[in-house]
Amino acid sequence: MPKKPNVHFPKRFLWGAATSAHQIEGNNHNQWTVWELEHAKVLAASAQYQYHDLPVWDDVKPQAMRPENYVSGLAINHYELYEEDFALLKKMNLNSFRFSVEWSRIEPEEGAWNSEAIAHYVQYVKRLGELGIEPIVTLFHFSLPTWFAERGGFEKRANVKYFVRFSEKILSELGGSVRYIITLNEPVIYAMNSYYRHEWPPSKSSKFETWRVLQNLALAHRRTAKIARGLNRRYKVSVAHNSAYYYPGDDAWVSRLSAWVLQHVTDDYFLRKVIRSCDFLGVNYYFSNRVYGYRVHNPNEALSDLGWDLTPADLQYVLERLHRKYKRPLIVTEAGLADATDERRKAVIMQHIVALQRARDEGVDVQGYLHWSLLDNFEWDKGRWPRFGLVHVDYATQKRSLRPSGTWYGQVVKKLREQA
Ligand code: BGC
Repeated sequence: MPKKPNVHFPKRFLWGAATSAHQIEGNNHNQWTVWELEHAKVLAASAQYQYHDLPVWDDVKPQAMRPENYVSGLAINHYELYEEDFALLKKMNLNSFRFSVEWSRIEPEEGAWNSEAIAHYVQYVKRLGELGIEPIVTLFHFSLPTWFAERGGFEKRANVKYFVRFSEKILSELGGSVRYIITLNEPVIYAMNSYYRHEWPPSKSSKFETWRVLQNLALAHRRTAKIARGLNRRYKVSVAHNSAYYYPGDDAWVSRLSAWVLQHVTDDYFLRKVIRSCDFLGVNYYFSNRVYGYRVHNPNEALSDLGWDLTPADLQYVLERLHRKYKRPLIVTEAGLADATDERRKAVIMQHIVALQRARDEGVDVQGYLHWSLLDNFEWDKGRWPRFGLVHVDYATQKRSLRPSGTWYGQVVKKLREQA
């Protein structure tokens, strides 16, 4: 048994929760809303085939087989209810919050800025400041204005300028009230799901397009980072990179080599293109992958509702590796699980915190932990049934209620902050 660490985090450590605009705001009009309406029926019809193996299938089946599940619609109406949601952050003693600004609201038509939407986000960030909560703003979290998607989105290098222009606009409006900026959320996952696995809009399957999108996203990050620095030298800029931990399941050289290659391809290929313009590195962690031979074959011992292996302790190894390779301060910008009954969330968070502490003991400069997610939300192509929230949301009434794990997380954070 490894030694139990002496848990101690610095005063400035960011304890928080993460969200994204399209998953919570409601009433958006972007490339996802169009795609949802086109695909809802097909997604509902294929749910049985896709998810029948999951232990929760019987419980989620009625919802997962209804097309409405796959249409974000009002989502959880966070656009209007954000004050209520910020009060929950306070209730949990959190001192940071990650969210994204919705480009399609801010620039609904090419070159036309929506002053109401801009004022909304200015007020939103101001309110966080008043509450003593550090905002961490994401500029691209998978949703795009339809006009941008129609022009080919990030497939075209010539389109990168539109994203950079939007970023410059919103950052100059938000000014010094934000410090932490995430240019892109999980660029590798976005490129793979949208352009290789045809799971997300624009549902393509092309190696070449995937590669091109990755190049253009990297360029978008570098240009935005440069602009941000020109606007305010206090800004700290990064991407939020999704890192799984790959490990060999046996001693065979093929397994060891495959684990190494997979880790390298999924982490380093993209990070190398952007790391020089990152002040820190945002890390999203959900699971590990055990590799036998050339294949991922997971033990499937403890699973989330989505069937993802629960391996929270491995967060430590992900942090240690990224620290060794990239020598940047790290912030865990997402880590969490779908757990409707809330039976596993507390243990997972506890192990995340131990992993953070162990990594810090090994000299890794981890500066924050933002649990995914604050609230139950719209889980992209899976819709509403996976429940990631520290806070339960009743979708019929929009009523929020803190889950026991949320109350517990809040108490732990309180203690850790008092001890700091
Ligand atoms: C994404 C979130 C998503 C979460 C759970 C991350 O890949 O950034 O938008 O909800 O994982 O799937």
